Amino acid sequence: MLSEGQDGSNDLDQFFSFARDVERTILKSGRSEPTANEIQDYSWKYWRAVDHLCDRLQASPINDPLSDRSFRKFLELTVRCEAAWRSRFRPHGYPGDYRTMELFYRLEETPDKESPPKCKTPGETLVESAFARTHGIRLIQKRAKILESFLVERLSAGHQRPLRMLDVGGGGARYFRRAIRKVVDANVSYTIIDQDPSLPHFWCNEIPADVARNVTIVSAPVKSLLSGECAERLPDKFDLVMSSGLFDYLDQGTASQLAAHLFSMLRKPGALVIANMLNSEPGQAAFFRETIMDWHIVKRTDDEMRGLVPSVEPEGYDRFPDVDLGVVYFRSR
Ligand SMILES: C[S@@+](CC[C@H](N)C(=O)[O-])C[C@H]1O[C@@H](n2cnc3c(N)ncnc32)[C@H](O)[C@@H]1O
Repeated sequence: MLSEGQDGSNDLDQFFSFARDVERTILKSGRSEPTANEIQDYSWKYWRAVDHLCDRLQASPINDPLSDRSFRKFLELTVRCEAAWRSRFRPHGYPGDYRTMELFYRLEETPDKESPPKCKTPGETLVESAFARTHGIRLIQKRAKILESFLVERLSAGHQRPLRMLDVGGGGARYFRRAIRKVVDANVSYTIIDQDPSLPHFWCNEIPADVARNVTIVSAPVKSLLSGECAERLPDKFDLVMSSGLFDYLDQGTASQLAAHLFSMLRKPGALVIANMLNSEPGQAAFFRETIMDWHIVKRTDDEMRGLVPSVEPEGYDRFPDVDLGVVYFRSR
């Protein structure tokens, strides 16, 4: 529902004037950072403004939301946050590149040691704090925590031979970076297959050597896995194969073809873990992602996730118990 302020203005206009005023107040007072109250107030008004935009564009849909002045103004303000700017404008050329994911992880309230603090203007801090509350980003952060715990458990089990892991579309694999820091003397060989040509540079130059030495990057698209083209660049079989944030871009046919292939790459016993957003996303969150961020993904139902590897017996299938998060396990016995 559109809400009108006492002076006849709506939540969007109220937000624009509030955003301008709060920034001016902070700058005039000589502070470099907003207070906790200013941040909270800003976020609340920001998301009211999203509701307003969502209601308005749903009530009178337009082909190009950028032709709407308020929409443009809201977007211009949002992309002052670097993570939002990357999501919307995709400087790597496609949505969901690993550098954007790195920025999403850095929006967490307790960033890890690999993320040095960044110098920000008060305006940037305000919009970033509001953007950090995005439903999808919270899910991505939660998903990484689940994968991290799963990896810690696996790495801690004590292995005679190196545990062989394959991460398909692994990007910066922050969950692995965090997990390996927690397990002293982990015996693991972690292979990432990823099509982004900048990834070897990232792992070589931006990740501490004690973590990166466990990791091999195979720069190739997943289709080369299916065609067998990159077979000689990979170990024969793996104890764990995982993929997080890649299946969200694959249609059901390609996804099940790839999942079945990945399952066939497992040793027995072994596990295939796939993380894919489920389609329980609330309406406002979907509007924000699709219309404001122009970020489109393939969400799946529980049954579609289960159907990715139909040959697996019901006892070999498991799912992380969260209604919003599609993290599923297929086990080979
Ligand atoms: C959303 S990121 C996920 C990164 C990481 N797995 C995570 O969850 O933080 C998707 C990754 O998949 C890679 N990717 C996308 N399409 C691919 C393809 N067809 N073949 C190989 N890698 C792909 C991208 O380069 C990117 O690093």
